[in-house]
Amino acid sequence: MDDSLAGMNFTDIRIIGIIGAGQMGSGIAQVAAQHGFRTLLTDVSADLCACARDKIGAILGKQVAKGKLTDAAREETLGRIEPTVGDALAASFFDNAAATENVELKLSILRAADARMKTEAILASNTSSISLTRLAGAVSRPGQVIGMHFMNPVPLMKLVEIVRAIQTSPETYETTRALATAFGKTVITSRDQPAFVVNRMLIPLLNEACFALQEGVATAEDIDQGARLGLNHPMGPLELADFVGLDTVLAIAEVLQRDFGDDKYRPPVLLRNLVAAGWYGKKTGRGFYVYDEKGEKQKASV
Ligand code: CAA
Repeated sequence: MDDSLAGMNFTDIRIIGIIGAGQMGSGIAQVAAQHGFRTLLTDVSADLCACARDKIGAILGKQVAKGKLTDAAREETLGRIEPTVGDALAASFFDNAAATENVELKLSILRAADARMKTEAILASNTSSISLTRLAGAVSRPGQVIGMHFMNPVPLMKLVEIVRAIQTSPETYETTRALATAFGKTVITSRDQPAFVVNRMLIPLLNEACFALQEGVATAEDIDQGARLGLNHPMGPLELADFVGLDTVLAIAEVLQRDFGDDKYRPPVLLRNLVAAGWYGKKTGRGFYVYDEKGEKQKASV
């Protein structure tokens, strides 16, 4: 292999570029900036990026108010986040965190980044279900493509699931692992198989909770209470599905069903209907539950 294409060492990473200033992208930006990295946050509009930075400022402001963070640390963190529009070409590590799990969109973003970024930069994707091997196959530096799957909410969740495409070089893997550790995260490693490790376990649980609701086994509240108090889960599966986004849950279930060719992953009709109605969960104000404007859960929706 050409050494210049082997990926960079962790110590060479100076700037993190993040495409997608939604929930995941801004969470990753917050974590990167809090751990000292200059972070370029980009999306289709300047407003989206500025809004994401403002939200991070507000979250950190609450920590300042509680005495958990100094105002100076808040300012330093915010100062490391640079909203940019269009691209993040100066980045030496790039995370494609665009929220939507749309293969064509991810491919086009990755190809554009590949064409314009430094040859040694690593291209990581925060995809929760798309094949990294397929993404790597679409760019000129397949050895430098890797999955870096953060959990939602990124600043609070300790895990990063690193996914190795079959093309991912050992250098890219080690560098990404070191970066995740520098972000204060614990790493697990997955081969490139549909939905990797975490979502392969999670989606059948969320699906099954939805089947139970659809079949009238119990109310949404009781299904969630069952998981909270009976299994010690921090959230019930239906509220968690609303939190993750029902469009995302459906997309991952469809990937699992299609790519494994196994109907045990089939999404329930109720989930399809909620998505068809545009009731994606917390982010749209309605999913399995109805939410107020502050995002507080009000009552069951269906
Ligand atoms: N940055 C820093 N601090 C933050 C923050 C942020 N972005 N957001 C909230 N906080 C702070 C809060 O202000 C609060 O601070 P105090 O303790 O000082 O009050 C603290 O963090 C805890 O906040 P909450 O009270 O809201 O936290 P909680 O105890 O209710 O827990 C939760 C919230 C962590 C989300 C918990 O309910 C949980 O773990 N839920 C399950 C989440 C989960 O399973 N995520 C994985 C989803 S799957 C996935 O992501 C993969 C995929 O591809 C679909």
